[in-house]
Amino acid sequence: MNNQDAMKQQAAEAALTYAEGGVIGVGTGSTVNHFIDALARIKGRIEGAVSSSEASTKRLEGHGIRVFDLNAVGELSLYVDGADEANHALQLIKGGGGALTREKIVAAASRQFVCIADQSKLVDVLGAFPLPVEVIPMARSHVARQLVKLGGTPVWREGVITDNGNLILDVQNLDLIDPVTLEQAINNIAGVVTVGIFALRPADLLILGTADGPKTLH
Ligand code: A5P
Repeated sequence: MNNQDAMKQQAAEAALTYAEGGVIGVGTGSTVNHFIDALARIKGRIEGAVSSSEASTKRLEGHGIRVFDLNAVGELSLYVDGADEANHALQLIKGGGGALTREKIVAAASRQFVCIADQSKLVDVLGAFPLPVEVIPMARSHVARQLVKLGGTPVWREGVITDNGNLILDVQNLDLIDPVTLEQAINNIAGVVTVGIFALRPADLLILGTADGPKTLH
């Protein structure tokens, strides 16, 4: 395990204290994989999980953790997920793993969103990480043209089909100084399923793994 992975694991272990029971919302990615592995140790304390991707479902079920349909459980008390970037307002860029749509749904359906990451994910201004946008396949070129009008440089993540059967555009060069306004503008393009800006519903807590141990930002 390298340093960065050890910091991801540290953040994931620290998030375990928030998993007090019931059904937990679980995100996707390498940091969340550590959280799922940690969750397995206390699985007797929880009823199960709602998963944000087929990959996380497989890992949860591999540990014998029951996975529920979100429609069967209603509002969740806790959602734990990683991020590609986080700013100090706990607004995020997500979707590097392509699971952004289900992640945004589960985050929206949860009272508390605990984001876990290694310290490299904390930035002053979002946007160095290419912004993922999930699009309906027939709208790919149309959405790309609208993203260019917003100042972006979209690149089709070729060969990737999301769990929902859609495509991903990764957009560079966008100005993310006002993430809420940009999230709304991209949401309004016909054919966009989800933009990977989590600013209208940011995280409530950010647990960062650092060289000095886990740090929590509110
Ligand atoms: C998945 O689509 C993403 O939103 C992940 O949460 C994000 O990419 C963080 O991934 P890592 O934990 O692997 O860095």
